[in-house]
Amino acid sequence: MRLGVNIDHVATVRQARLAPEPEPVAAAVLAELAGAHGITVHLRGDRRHMQERDVELLRQVVATKLNLEMAATPEMIDIAVRVKPHQATLVPEQPEELTTTGGLDVVSHAAALRIVVRSLRTAGIGTSVFIDADPAQVQGAAEVGAEAVEINTGPYADAAENARAEHRDQVAAAAEAAAEQGLDVLAGHGLTYQNVGPIAAIPTIAELNIGHSIVARAVLVGMERAVREMLALLRA
Ligand code: PXP
Repeated sequence: MRLGVNIDHVATVRQARLAPEPEPVAAAVLAELAGAHGITVHLRGDRRHMQERDVELLRQVVATKLNLEMAATPEMIDIAVRVKPHQATLVPEQPEELTTTGGLDVVSHAAALRIVVRSLRTAGIGTSVFIDADPAQVQGAAEVGAEAVEINTGPYADAAENARAEHRDQVAAAAEAAAEQGLDVLAGHGLTYQNVGPIAAIPTIAELNIGHSIVARAVLVGMERAVREMLALLRA
């Protein structure tokens, strides 16, 4: 199981004081040295954490895979086509949200997304779509030409203890459907050291994208140790 480390909140700390530190590029290097298989950043329209300059520098420095989370807006498509991350993950974006609040509805927006995916693929960027654990959305992702899906584990993470198994099974079923479609299967959102186990045990998921929990631990124990401790749970 691969681990993609989302380092957005390293930039959140920097932006809290509009200071030059902490440097997200340094965090990316340390995460890679500890064994991360990829680095994810979300360049939001409001630039609340990552800045364009971060994405440009990370593209030059990241040695594994740079995954750019982005809304499917003309501004972001232009940036992606120019900077050329290894992968782009299309996500919905609401200005007031604290974090991404749900999957992209690839079924309702199929016509527009097909064009966006084609533009990104023509630029040599592998395209993933962040979707809810719903077989119709998996089918929709395949139909718009995405190469990968990231299944939203937010509802699993937020569920009460007695509803967790049901949400985990929905993620597993969506992952299996996606693998059957030949899609690369990723999952993420809300995963922590405490709740990652049952999701990491789903055999058709190839990669987990984890951000807040790793950065929160890294503040206390350092990025390399935080990444190694998560990797150990993915191997368990
Ligand atoms: N995947 C997607 C699509 C996201 O938007 C985020 C949050 O930016 C994550 C994964 C990581 O979520 P978390 O920070 O809760 O681990």
